[in-house]
Amino acid sequence: MPGYFSEELLDDIRGANPIHDVVSEYLSLKKSGRNYLGLCPFHAEKTPSFTVNTEKQIFHCFGCGDGGNVFGFIMRQQNLAFPEAVRYLAGRGGVAIPETLPPAQRERKQEKDRLREANDAAVDFYRRNRRAPAGRPAMKYLLDRRVTEETIKVFSLGFALPSWDGLVRALQAKGFKEEELQKAGLAVPRSGGGSVDRFRNRVLFPIADAQGGVVGFGGRILDKGEPKYLNSPETPLYHKSRVLYGFGQAREAIRKEGFGVAVEGYFDCLTAHQAELRNVVATSGTALTPGHLKLMQRFSERWTVVFDGDAAGIRAAKRSLELFIVEGLIARCVLLPGGEDPDTFIRDKGIEAFRKLLDGAESLMEFFIRQTVRDHPTTTIEGKVAAVREVVPLLAKVKGRVEQAEYISLAAHRLGVREEVLRSEVQAAASRERGEKPSPERSTAAMKPLRAEEVGLIRAMLASGSVAARMKKEVSLEDLEEENCRAVVRKIFSLLDEGVSSGIGERLRFDDEKLNRLVSSWLVESAGPEEKKTALQEAQDCLARIRKRRTDRESRLIQEKIAHAEREGDKEVLHKLLRIKHDLRLQAGR
Ligand code: GTP
Ligand code: MN
Repeated sequence: MPGYFSEELLDDIRGANPIHDVVSEYLSLKKSGRNYLGLCPFHAEKTPSFTVNTEKQIFHCFGCGDGGNVFGFIMRQQNLAFPEAVRYLAGRGGVAIPETLPPAQRERKQEKDRLREANDAAVDFYRRNRRAPAGRPAMKYLLDRRVTEETIKVFSLGFALPSWDGLVRALQAKGFKEEELQKAGLAVPRSGGGSVDRFRNRVLFPIADAQGGVVGFGGRILDKGEPKYLNSPETPLYHKSRVLYGFGQAREAIRKEGFGVAVEGYFDCLTAHQAELRNVVATSGTALTPGHLKLMQRFSERWTVVFDGDAAGIRAAKRSLELFIVEGLIARCVLLPGGEDPDTFIRDKGIEAFRKLLDGAESLMEFFIRQTVRDHPTTTIEGKVAAVREVVPLLAKVKGRVEQAEYISLAAHRLGVREEVLRSEVQAAASRERGEKPSPERSTAAMKPLRAEEVGLIRAMLASGSVAARMKKEVSLEDLEEENCRAVVRKIFSLLDEGVSSGIGERLRFDDEKLNRLVSSWLVESAGPEEKKTALQEAQDCLARIRKRRTDRESRLIQEKIAHAEREGDKEVLHKLLRIKHDLRLQAGR
């Protein structure tokens, strides 16, 4: 999907949405030198460090490091994926997006649109059943569970009546085909031909995707019966490992509170919202998947997950830790007293008691370490070894250096092993892990510090399209040591290949947020003391330093190989190596 918007189209959309105007819809900006300044919408601050540069059409916050172009701003501000941000800004700026999808994709999109329409019609139908006489038992059920009319409205709850084909008939009358209803998961084929409703005699919870469109339903039976909950089957729209219930109602609160809460059940979610705790979504009883976390990440980096306090809940909490670490989310967990779920807990003990639990939530890693010590008493050597073996692989995956060090220290303390010992175990595990990855270059290089000359070269290329074009002829990616710089230059080259010749900086956009931040920080910084130099001179100076470093690196390597060949007495290899060394010297002008 990404990449099917042409650069020209993106240019048009960008042109129709000057960054200053777009940002001003969310915060007030004041002119300050060449830039505009305001209070960052992405982190709490009292003095403005959110900078908009109209010349480069980018933003950058010196407080939290966020940055990017107008698409990046909208993605962040409205929790949108790139294509959605493009569509939003196209709409805002009145730019038409031509249907450029390849035919197969267009067909799939049309099918999905049709299924969305069917879902919308179904929401409508089920909602209207709230007033039907046959819907009284369902309404009574909800009211008995103390769900208010207000909550019913906010969550668009509806009822499927006991009839066999009420929905099928109603939607057929609206022009939907049986086949479409089956594909949407709303109907199932009847053995003698035709279709019957999938949901009968249930309270229905419409489930929306991140954009707010209804993609499926969860249905609870009234009182007793099996299964207690029936969800939509997998459809082109509904993937249970990728949806969470309640984002539409929770997104604002998640942003305001700065974190989200994940509970298990639909009613848990409703009850929390009803008690005015609104940053809550539900997992519909399934174990968290990477797909869930990707979705969660779009709304917040910080999550508190509520688990049952029983053995299964503890296992689920432990299992989820690795997912959170791998996705780089900051997770805390709450374990409810046995037998309680948030729904019953909030009703019995009150919302304040529940909020207290959330406030006191322990980090998932701390919880994991505590459980590990409980499972493997570290009073014996075997216990210690087993506990270390369990925590090391997870510690090795923690992304932030500072965080990792903190956790290592904590784990060492709790497990009763020396910190240095644990640290070296973790480092060994981390390098083993990197060794297995398909792209070791990436992970090892990512640890190298940024090189001033590489950054300088990039900044010069961003300052002038003609310098960039010229450097493209001289620089090869292998010249650059640092992977982030390499990624940026690779992208600059590909834009040049597409015929972009100016304004490269404002067109750069990466899927990797880290790169957007880096680039915006380079763009927004005013040039340093070397301002008097032209961009071309600067680029050439940097390139010379980069080259020198590269030849130094290579000759060190050759020197090591020469020493080795000498030790081995391998004359032929030695001879070759000496030739290479000679050539390198000539190149370097020494
Ligand atoms: P209530 O009894 O209505 O309060 O439900 P609950 O949310 O307390 O139920 P439970 O803790 O048993 O389940 C939590 C969540 O798991 C539910 O909200 C459902 O999303 C899911 N779930 C529970 N039972 C079933 C089932 O039989 N089938 C499916 N597909 N999901 C279920
Ligand atoms: Mn419950």
